[in-house]
Amino acid sequence: MCGIVGAVAERDVSAILLEGLRRLEYRGYDSAGLAVRGDEGVLHRHRAVGKVGALEDAQAARPHHGVLGIAHTRWATHGAPTEANAHPHVARDEVAIVHNGIIENHEPLRRQLTAAGYRFDSETDTEAVVNAVHERLEAGDDLLTATRSVIARLDGAYALGVISRHDPDRLIAARRGSPLVVGVGIGEHFIASDVAALLPVTRDFIYLEEGDVAELTREGVRILNAAGEPVERPVRTTELTADAAERGAFRHFMAKEIHEQPRAVAETLEGRIAEDRVLPEALGPEATRILGEAQRIQIVACGTSYHAGLVARYWFEAIAGLPCDVEVASEFRYRRHVVPRDTVFVTLSQSGETADTLAALREAWTMGYLATLAICNVPESSLVRESDLVMMTRAGPEIGVASTKAFTTQLTALLLTVIATGRMHGLEAAEEARLVTALRSLPRQMEDVLALEPAIEAMSEQFVDKHHSLFLGRGTQYPIAMEGALKLKEISYIHAEAYPAGELKHGPLALVDAEMPVVTVAPKDDLVEKLKSNLQEVRARGGRLHVFADAAAAPAADADCQVITLPPVDEAVAPLLYTVPLQLLAYHVAVLKGTDVDQPRNLAKSVTVE
Ligand code: G6P
Repeated sequence: MCGIVGAVAERDVSAILLEGLRRLEYRGYDSAGLAVRGDEGVLHRHRAVGKVGALEDAQAARPHHGVLGIAHTRWATHGAPTEANAHPHVARDEVAIVHNGIIENHEPLRRQLTAAGYRFDSETDTEAVVNAVHERLEAGDDLLTATRSVIARLDGAYALGVISRHDPDRLIAARRGSPLVVGVGIGEHFIASDVAALLPVTRDFIYLEEGDVAELTREGVRILNAAGEPVERPVRTTELTADAAERGAFRHFMAKEIHEQPRAVAETLEGRIAEDRVLPEALGPEATRILGEAQRIQIVACGTSYHAGLVARYWFEAIAGLPCDVEVASEFRYRRHVVPRDTVFVTLSQSGETADTLAALREAWTMGYLATLAICNVPESSLVRESDLVMMTRAGPEIGVASTKAFTTQLTALLLTVIATGRMHGLEAAEEARLVTALRSLPRQMEDVLALEPAIEAMSEQFVDKHHSLFLGRGTQYPIAMEGALKLKEISYIHAEAYPAGELKHGPLALVDAEMPVVTVAPKDDLVEKLKSNLQEVRARGGRLHVFADAAAAPAADADCQVITLPPVDEAVAPLLYTVPLQLLAYHVAVLKGTDVDQPRNLAKSVTVE
């Protein structure tokens, strides 16, 4: 989703802005732009459709320099990805703005400004904001006051960066509904959508809160809260380093992140398990008490995180004995609910900034839940800050749009939560010990599965010319089949659907032929024999099977049934292990197809609009 970078410094900021945009590329975007205020008091702008590389080319061909500037990567919402719609937007060559989010009342604003003589050159909602700020400046406001009076009229979500050619020392930032951080330097200050953009220039950040407006100068940062009162927000030093988000020797971030999973899972377990039990520290005393009181769980999430929630439902019910509902956030937030007594509301999110998940959480506050728990990968995210209880996944920065290590670490954190909850609801010590042992073995077992990559890469060749595919699983493997299908469709653009294998004969079997590969995950569990019967149904219709299975339960391989065997694994953690080959399969199909693996078309990493 859109990315913002801005800087006010004593040095030329154009390279800082471009490097920042590069580091935000992973969020997903389709055009980019920058504006700097040149020493002669003129706003210079470059915009380009496509990658940041195109913007860099424009800058190299005609360099614009200045000590004050803003830049943006745009993920189109209002209007196609064209140069005219790319940010920054400029009003009468005097004010420039970058914006993330959606202004819902931009149409009446646009009508009023058009009537006042303002020209609109784009289809964006943002242009109304920049013209409105200009109108206030003309009326005599200074840049901060003008910005504040305009945002008071905005409905919707925004993070904004504003500069004026008349104000060489000032960068105004504002946020409501979209993330924005202030980077603190010495004699220079920055803004960005996330810390990753600014790691080469600072590790000290102020996380703006909802409704905050900040005035950045070279000397300092002044923040006003939503009520217009001056506030102090703490400066936090991030543990991330500039190279935390680099690809290393891997060809794509996704490949790197798939291979980081054994370490990421081990880190998520670190300090949270002992020999045979989950430590109370895993969740903290408050969470332990609340989960002890809980009688039900409601999970809300989007995308891959939603699939983690679906797996957790099986676990909460089977291991902790608590009823558990799971819903995608965009549905949850727009329907009426009956909230059963003593229900804990759990959000799952890699970024902690997904607009629908955050809105669902805010909705949940008013609905009488026992408490809110966030399982999240970004410590300073809105979701973390706004939840009662937090369990961090420790995946490290995830850059590839298609989520991989965030998913398996979410599952790890969820299983820890389920076990800790289960203990207070009658889970026996021997069972807990078995689960903890299984969790502890996972990183090594994941390494074994990663070693299967050459065989999976060879399998991927059979998908390259296909247009459709079917993923089957049963029990906890059904959500894993859903996740495998999501990975394949996201990055290879092959239509992929997941079904619980038992539903095959209620519809999808009609689609099965030699042109529709059928992918199945089949660990050795109570359902595997039933699953194998379902696979016979596919074979009898001339379908081609690609099966990931435990050697002890695998169907016989032949020309129409390719089998890759995985090491034996405890049933409880099998979902984590069987995710890995599906990630690798999607990755290699995408590489063979030559798609943009890390930034697939039309998708964004962090979906900060509804
Ligand atoms: C986007 C990303 C997905 C992610 C989903 C939810 O669609 O492309 O990879 O699963 O958002 O994101 P979250 O940060 O809330 O987990």
